[in-house]
Amino acid sequence: MQLSVIGCGYLGAVHAAAMASLGHTVVGIDVDAAKVATLSSGKAPIYEPGLNEILQAGLDSGNLSFSTDYADAASAEVHFIGVGTPQRKDGAGADLTYVDAAIGDLLPHATAGSLVVGKSTVPVGTAERLAGVVRPAGLRLAWNPEFLREGFAVQDTVAPDRLVYGVGGDAADDDVATLDAVYASILERDTPRLVTDYATAELVKVAANSFLATKISFINAMAEIAEVTGADVTQLADAIGHDVRIGRKFLNAGVGFGGGCLPKDIRAFTARAEELGRGESVAFLKQVDEINLRRRQRLVDLVVDSFDGPVFGRRVAVLGLAFKPDSDDIRDSPALDVAVRLKGLGAEVVSYDPQAMETARRAHPQLTYADSLEEALTDAEAVAVVTEWKQFKELDPAATAELVARPVVFDGRNVLDPAAWRQAGWTYTGMGR
Ligand code: UGA
Repeated sequence: MQLSVIGCGYLGAVHAAAMASLGHTVVGIDVDAAKVATLSSGKAPIYEPGLNEILQAGLDSGNLSFSTDYADAASAEVHFIGVGTPQRKDGAGADLTYVDAAIGDLLPHATAGSLVVGKSTVPVGTAERLAGVVRPAGLRLAWNPEFLREGFAVQDTVAPDRLVYGVGGDAADDDVATLDAVYASILERDTPRLVTDYATAELVKVAANSFLATKISFINAMAEIAEVTGADVTQLADAIGHDVRIGRKFLNAGVGFGGGCLPKDIRAFTARAEELGRGESVAFLKQVDEINLRRRQRLVDLVVDSFDGPVFGRRVAVLGLAFKPDSDDIRDSPALDVAVRLKGLGAEVVSYDPQAMETARRAHPQLTYADSLEEALTDAEAVAVVTEWKQFKELDPAATAELVARPVVFDGRNVLDPAAWRQAGWTYTGMGR
């Protein structure tokens, strides 16, 4: 099929390349000429395992192209909208400027009868409103939320654990048939497919992310209790995780969640619920957010308290900048936040991340970035592990002790073996451990 993907960021670039890998002919449209040039040269503008490979394969096969010109999307039968919906600068709600602009710019070019498919995360009610814009122009609209995780984005797109189609209006059956054709090879593997109305599809997405955020803040709340009782939150998570109704996934306590999705989605959901007069229904998400932000400060406090005097001028190695491993994304990153907060207190912070150095440097040029993990550790008076990269988890405590000035480690992701580190002479502190 002929497809277009409007917006080539984290979501759109992966979706475009993944759809081409399924055999469709895809054009990715983005207003950012530099991004289009990078993608057209076969390079992903983000670090995402496997993306460069399917990008290059798509370009080589002629199935995939990128353009800044909406006219190049004219012949597509299906137009995916994958632009960002960041948090508004003036509040907690979602900024829909890019979604509205994408649809406005697409309509004059799109062929009558083609299907516009929203993938962006939007406040409930948005699709119904946009249908009122799209249908009078002779097009159809469906909402098909995306559940990909950064670091696994390619895999999650070509082999998702479910597909959700939000449809409405007289052409709903046609819309379902068109989406089934797009995802035919995925559906052949018996992937669950749920057909809903627009509102449900929009809510599925924010409900899923809210649930995940709540799960993380729940275990971090338990970490706070563990800290004053001497209990071990990791063992607690293991024990409750054996109950299949609870499950062990997303029960890792630490410096909490970040990224371009969970934080802004729970805030946008809260704002939308308030608009709908149901603020109390999701008021707990404010606490989820507060618990999450408290954990960053908790780690900073632990580092500061480990020194006899002020932290000013003390050398602290902060290992990690990305909001999670296998990503160079620093949006709302707890790791970067910890580095910035310590720097703000006057500590001599030296940061290192295997992939996120460039994105972090652009956003925070005031921080000091080491060229290597070893350089970051050398002469450090405290070490904080804040992103659970494999390289950090596999650090040898004895060899690392040789590099630092003071063997004091803070395990912001609870991924190190406390016994092994203590045995090598380290003062080990985890988060609720
Ligand atoms: C999240 C969802 O997991 C995806 O399903 C969703 O599609 C995506 O948002 C989106 O809306 O686009 P992502 O932002 O890539 O995906 O990251 P997650 O894997 O959910 O991790 C989020 C944060 O939670 C990270 O900072 C991670 O370190 C943290 N986390 C995760 C914990 O602190 N503890 C855990 O147990 C798990």
